[in-house]
Amino acid sequence: MSLRLGDTAPDFKAKTSMGEISFYDYLGDSWGVLFSHPADYTPVCTTELGKTASLKEEFDKRNVKVIALSVDSIESHKGWINDINETQNVEVNFPLIADDNREVSEAYGMIHPNASETATVRSLFVISPDKKVKLMITYPASTGRNFQEILRVIDSLQLTAYHSVATPADWKSGEDVVVVPAIKTEDIPAKFPKGFREIKPYLRMTPQPDPIKN
Ligand code: BEZ
Repeated sequence: MSLRLGDTAPDFKAKTSMGEISFYDYLGDSWGVLFSHPADYTPVCTTELGKTASLKEEFDKRNVKVIALSVDSIESHKGWINDINETQNVEVNFPLIADDNREVSEAYGMIHPNASETATVRSLFVISPDKKVKLMITYPASTGRNFQEILRVIDSLQLTAYHSVATPADWKSGEDVVVVPAIKTEDIPAKFPKGFREIKPYLRMTPQPDPIKN
């Protein structure tokens, strides 16, 4: 059965552009982003990996470790990284898994045979420090991901994990958030000293708590 939200993210050992890694050891107590791309030496993937490298500070701030994957070989990854660094003006600073035996792709359901029999689609998983799958998104090969959206969802997940708030439609960092239904209205003042607005008994807004704890 394919992975679903709340499932434990499968652990694995894999060859990567930075040597052999054990996934859980790599993540440690951090949050994780594991994402697949269809193939090395392709244009959209080149921009995506460059963008990811350029966002290192943003991922670090959120205590997130990033790791990429395709079914290409280590030799291919190493050559392509040089191209990414050259064309995207970055230093690729995270490992690329060489999943040539498809072990990881299959464990994470990254091969969608009706899209491609052989290549991984653009899947992305956010994994919390307790190794649970918190976000799964899949894009087609021809559409590069929106990495600002990925950071936005990580911010939202961390606000929920650390502050018991949820984020409304189109929320951006700094805007008001929603108190989760599990918190009783009478308990809100003690927990949210910045105040709150009760629009309906089930819709209670509060200024975004800060900072996001890691
Ligand atoms: C790309 O990464 O550029 C790409 C890969 C497969 C199909 C279309 C584009």
